[in-house]
Amino acid sequence: MNKWPLTHLLLHLFITIIFLPSLTLSRDTITIDSPLAYPDSLVSSGRTFTLGLFNTSKSNLWYLGIWYTQTTQQTVVWVANRDTPMPDSTGVLSINTNRSILQLQTSSVKVFWSVNSSTMVSPIAQILDTGNFVLMEKDIGNITWQSFDYPTDTLLPGLKSGWIEGQYHLLNSWTSSNDPTSSTYQTKLVLAGWSELFICDGSKRIYRTGPWNGVHFAGEPQMTPNSQLTFVYVSNQNETYFTFYMNDTSFMSRLVLNQSFLQRYVSIGSSWTLYWSLPRDNCDNYAQCGPNGVCNVDSSNSPDCTCLTGFEPKSEKEWMLHDRTEGCIRSVELNCTRDEFITINDVKFPDSTNVTVYSTIGLSECRRRCLMNCSCTAYSSLNILNGENGCAMWMGDLVDIRTFNGGGSTFYYRVAGSEVPATSIATKKKNAAVIVISVALGLLILALVAYIIQWKVIKNHGNSAYSHRQTQISEEFRQPFATTGNKVLEECSSKRNFMSLPIFNASVILAATKNFALSNKLGEGGFGTVYKGELERGEKIAVKRLADFSTQGVGEFKNEVDLIAELQHVNLVRLLGCCVEGDERMLIYEYMENKSLDTIIFDKAKSSQLDWQKRFEIIKGIARGVLYLHQDSRLRIIHRDLKASNVLLDKNMNPKISDFGLARIFCGDEKKWQTSRVVGTYGYMSPEYAMDGVFSVKTDVFSFGVLVLEIISGRKSRAIFGAEPFINLLCYGWALWKNGKAFDLLHTSILVNSNNNSEIIRCIHVGLLCVQDRPEDRPHMSEVILMLNSPHALLPQPKQPGYFIDMVPGHMESSLSYTVHDTSITTVEPR
Ligand SMILES: *[C@@H]1O[C@H](CO)[C@@H](O)[C@H](O)[C@H]1NC(C)=O
Ligand SMILES: *[C@@H]1O[C@H](CO)[C@@H](O)[C@H](O)[C@H]1NC(C)=O
Ligand SMILES: *[C@@H]1O[C@H](CO)[C@@H](O)[C@H](O)[C@H]1NC(C)=O
Ligand SMILES: *[C@@H]1O[C@H](CO)[C@@H](O)[C@H](O)[C@H]1NC(C)=O
Ligand SMILES: *[C@@H]1O[C@H](CO)[C@@H](O)[C@H](O)[C@H]1NC(C)=O
Ligand SMILES: *[C@@H]1O[C@H](CO)[C@@H](O)[C@H](O)[C@H]1NC(C)=O
Ligand SMILES: *[C@@H]1O[C@H](CO)[C@@H](O)[C@H](O)[C@H]1NC(C)=O
Ligand SMILES: *[C@@H]1O[C@H](CO)[C@@H](O)[C@H](O)[C@H]1NC(C)=O
Ligand SMILES: *[C@@H]1O[C@H](CO)[C@@H](O)[C@H](O)[C@H]1NC(C)=O
Ligand SMILES: *[C@@H]1O[C@H](CO)[C@@H](O)[C@H](O)[C@H]1NC(C)=O
Repeated sequence: MNKWPLTHLLLHLFITIIFLPSLTLSRDTITIDSPLAYPDSLVSSGRTFTLGLFNTSKSNLWYLGIWYTQTTQQTVVWVANRDTPMPDSTGVLSINTNRSILQLQTSSVKVFWSVNSSTMVSPIAQILDTGNFVLMEKDIGNITWQSFDYPTDTLLPGLKSGWIEGQYHLLNSWTSSNDPTSSTYQTKLVLAGWSELFICDGSKRIYRTGPWNGVHFAGEPQMTPNSQLTFVYVSNQNETYFTFYMNDTSFMSRLVLNQSFLQRYVSIGSSWTLYWSLPRDNCDNYAQCGPNGVCNVDSSNSPDCTCLTGFEPKSEKEWMLHDRTEGCIRSVELNCTRDEFITINDVKFPDSTNVTVYSTIGLSECRRRCLMNCSCTAYSSLNILNGENGCAMWMGDLVDIRTFNGGGSTFYYRVAGSEVPATSIATKKKNAAVIVISVALGLLILALVAYIIQWKVIKNHGNSAYSHRQTQISEEFRQPFATTGNKVLEECSSKRNFMSLPIFNASVILAATKNFALSNKLGEGGFGTVYKGELERGEKIAVKRLADFSTQGVGEFKNEVDLIAELQHVNLVRLLGCCVEGDERMLIYEYMENKSLDTIIFDKAKSSQLDWQKRFEIIKGIARGVLYLHQDSRLRIIHRDLKASNVLLDKNMNPKISDFGLARIFCGDEKKWQTSRVVGTYGYMSPEYAMDGVFSVKTDVFSFGVLVLEIISGRKSRAIFGAEPFINLLCYGWALWKNGKAFDLLHTSILVNSNNNSEIIRCIHVGLLCVQDRPEDRPHMSEVILMLNSPHALLPQPKQPGYFIDMVPGHMESSLSYTVHDTSITTVEPR
């Protein structure tokens, strides 16, 4: 009885014959009896990595290396014989017959590369799925040699780069993209002082990461822990190393030293996307502004050097000629017994090679010891993982300080007591005097007085023009703190001790907004009215005056202050300070020249000037901001009210997310929450949230998708669509997409051409993926960003969007009312 027909048997046989050779080929181990010769290769058990011989296009030289098995472009992560290439592919990798050596040898019997294994009994060599090539004792499995101890230019997850067991394991760039020969570009670990990593060209320092502050490299504020990968820095008397682990294995990531750049690449599918690259701007260049200089980067990426307050250019002439290498010197020499400290926030710590580290003392003891030791020039906390712990003391010049737009460190540097505090108080008093007099005596006298004072200031404090921008701003903003024991004031000053929010005096705000003049009104936000203001120095601000501050407003105010004071990202609007006076609560933000996104994209005239490139940049900027909220900041935040009117645009049309009144911090591992008070805005609320009050990060993803479609189409999500039988933008977009007419969605100002059409389609595609009905179908923001940035990524087909209602006229009437106002909050009881 033959249950298997003959054809099946033949098919079976056929399959066996076809696949048998490849099965035997893809082994991952070599033993004494089975050497490796080209074109064979070893493939790791999970097929992630391949080890074999390869050549590059530059010259016909051959190398033994490890590369990713499945990426389209051969991506080599390790090379054994980078400086001793083979002339042809006849090299054989074997474990020597007298059981002593793993070696790469050609027919000419020359050994190009070898590893000593003479003490081993029965050695085998295996390529592991981590990308590590190991030599170990068969059956016992103890590793005697591993490629992870000899990195080339690439840091893979789990590869420890640093100083381990008395050996440096550092990266060295390829000479060029098709020549693996060692170059002069390498990473260096300086163990002295407070250890940090450098990128060097030979012995010349190009870039430094800054020391590890317990959370991230102090010079890399964006490198915060997130749910996708974990950065690890270990430093003790036996070893100091840096590595990272992938927690989300749905994609791959590698760090590579590419010439003078340390780059992080991320893969989805089979191609790589550059995630970040260091140094990222001119201020990252080592010692750009010389000793005691501070580098401030502006929007045009040209470095702008200032001296630390209390210092002046060493050579005025050279400084003026933009040669800043000599840096700055003290205006007044330290007295040693009568010195003071100046606080500087949001910067990269200076070079930490000459730092003395005390891990067990606190900040106040640190200050005391620094003050006592005449050679101590600055101090800071060592570790900010749980508050501020430990003590770092700098000696001598402070080299390579830069400012950040958020997430930087705080340190305290020493100046002669006679010098700075007195100077800044005097300046402030004089400025205040100017105002009083000018109001009283009018413009003419103001001009005169200003002239005199300016002249005085220049004469007395010629260096103050160079003083650090950050300090100036905070000096100006910081009004007397201690007028009352008001509780809210304390809230403003933020419990988290490394950040403190400036308090504005109500009189300053009144003056700035001309008593909240109607002409200065910018708009109506969720919880109050926003006014434009101008500080005395001409700095523009936006003041949110919270409405009717009796019941729920208190919570929202506190919420927003607490939240946003911690958040620092280019795509989030920056809170400059707050103001509490009687029942008034005000928040002071940076001023956004181009107002909110809805005033642009839904406006006929303004919208017509917004080309594709600009719109795409705005979409990507919003995505980065939301990603930061979801996982890159120290907190995990769901915004819950993303909409066009909550996205503000600065003068360069960079988007910044605002209005955190409804935002929720999510803690622990919980993935979703339910609330009985649904707040948000119709048209942007995801179905599960609007109906059941269930929210998660996917609630924001949905709103983001709606925003994407609005930005692309210039139509409001809830507008009624003329004669078209669609109840909303989502259904309209979805219908067009299904019928292959996605370009019909575009706003008329977007011109499709061969350069951008795939980008546009991808963007609509991503938008539709984000607004899918089921939250679990929607991508995470990290995936959204990868999809937007990866031209070749294969995206899943979108399923039907939320609120999809078949085009049956009867249904249209029973659907959500269109007349609900687009602004302000809506409270709905979940059904
Ligand atoms: C490697 O060598 C082979 C044979 O010499 C040649 O056909 C191939 O193009 C080379 N590969 C590269 C990347 O140059
Ligand atoms: C065995 O190893 C030694 C070095 O330990 C080497 O000199 C010798 O040539 C090797 N013998 C063979 C047959 O490879
Ligand atoms: C291998 O190591 C052993 C022990 O350290 C040493 O005696 C031997 O000479 C080495 N062989 C080679 C070829 O380096
Ligand atoms: C491997 O492990 C065994 C037992 O744990 C030990 O006796 C042996 O010395 C180890 N071999 C090496 C090369 O470390
Ligand atoms: C350092 O190594 C020594 C000896 O191996 C060990 O006793 C000690 O615990 C190690 N210290 C740390 C911090 O790992
Ligand atoms: C990520 O993985 C590392 C090592 O595998 C682990 O120590 C860490 O706790 C993980 N982090 C998260 C957030 O799961
Ligand atoms: C190095 O960077 C250049 C451009 O930034 C890129 O084209 C190249 O692929 C990178 N090389 C590696 C090995 O990642
Ligand atoms: C510091 O200042 C005090 C008082 O002005 C003076 O007596 C002392 O000599 C000064 N010390 C140094 C080292 O200049
Ligand atoms: C550290 O101290 C050494 C020796 O005093 C000095 O040459 C070097 O310039 C100092 N480095 C920094 C960054 O201050
Ligand atoms: C100041 O600190 C440095 C570095 O720790 C130390 O070498 C020096 O002896 C100290 N000086 C005094 C006076 O304590």
